[in-house]
Amino acid sequence: MQENNKILFICDDNELSRYLIEKLMVDGGYFVAIEPTAKRGLATFKDNGFDLVIAKTQMPDLSPQDLIRELKAIDPDCNIIALLDEHKQEVLEYLFSLGIYDFIAKPINLEKLFFLVKKGIDMHTLMIANRRLTQGLKESNSALEKQNTLLAKRIEDSTKNLTRLYEDLRSTYMRTIKVLAQAIDARDHYTHSHSENVAKIAVAIASEMGLSAKDVETIRQACELHDLGKIGVEDCILGKTSSLTDEEWTQIRRHPQIAVQILEPLTFLNDVIELVRQHHEHYNGTGYPVGGKGEDIPLGARIIHLADAYEAMRSARSYRKIPLTKEAAVEEIKKHSGTQFDPKVVEAFLKVVDRL
Ligand SMILES: [Fe+2]
Ligand SMILES: [Fe+2]
Repeated sequence: MQENNKILFICDDNELSRYLIEKLMVDGGYFVAIEPTAKRGLATFKDNGFDLVIAKTQMPDLSPQDLIRELKAIDPDCNIIALLDEHKQEVLEYLFSLGIYDFIAKPINLEKLFFLVKKGIDMHTLMIANRRLTQGLKESNSALEKQNTLLAKRIEDSTKNLTRLYEDLRSTYMRTIKVLAQAIDARDHYTHSHSENVAKIAVAIASEMGLSAKDVETIRQACELHDLGKIGVEDCILGKTSSLTDEEWTQIRRHPQIAVQILEPLTFLNDVIELVRQHHEHYNGTGYPVGGKGEDIPLGARIIHLADAYEAMRSARSYRKIPLTKEAAVEEIKKHSGTQFDPKVVEAFLKVVDRL
């Protein structure tokens, strides 16, 4: 028995209807509803839903085109078997073009009819299952898309938070190091504010030379940290009033390297670190710790070196209680242009020195 399979039979030929219905219900076990007009057939189809429609397409109340179109509009998956009075090729071609599933013509071959009915119902079941599956997939896809959007938003928020945290961490590091550098300067009251003053002079020279804002900022940061390594030099050497022994000079000359070791883990300071490392290099290659020469020394380091030397001359020191006058310090710088100092840096310095 095909208890769940429902067939709608639309036909105005009562005798044929009675005969076929009896066969389909009794022999086939299908549930069959019969309607004698096309319009009543459509209403019943709409209200109940069927697995298959067998319809005489030449009905007095509706054209074959309208009947098939209306049936398909109610259920796009419905299979329609056209019931014909006679086999006419051109009529069949027309009906197939309208979307019928198959046909059966008089005289009715019951074996063929049962075969078409079973095949049509099976196909309808499959089409419905397929439609449900497709719909399910669409819904899953849309749910996944929503989840993706949500996830992307969460990742974006997390990235923003991480960036903010990184920036906070970075500025905390910078503040800590600056405080440390200032503390180093303050160990010796003669060098109090030394790094800050060197930064002012170096920034003025770098701006005069037309360096980019980014490079000027790198130079400023390097100035603030340039003598950080003096943390590793004993107080008695830093504050010594008499001349230094070779051993003491060796200790002093280690300070750029010590600063590099302290700063090296902070990779975002790489450019700054290089300037700190080379701030005691001389233009003619007699400086330390690398002994680099001319353009091999980064321009920022050549600028800091001059600013550092000028600031030292203009301040009181443990070994020289009275600072040099501006004129005397400028003369010293000029005297060592091309040997200790880069002549181009000296040239820029001379243009800005009166403003310092
Ligand atoms: Fe230094
Ligand atoms: Fe210095």
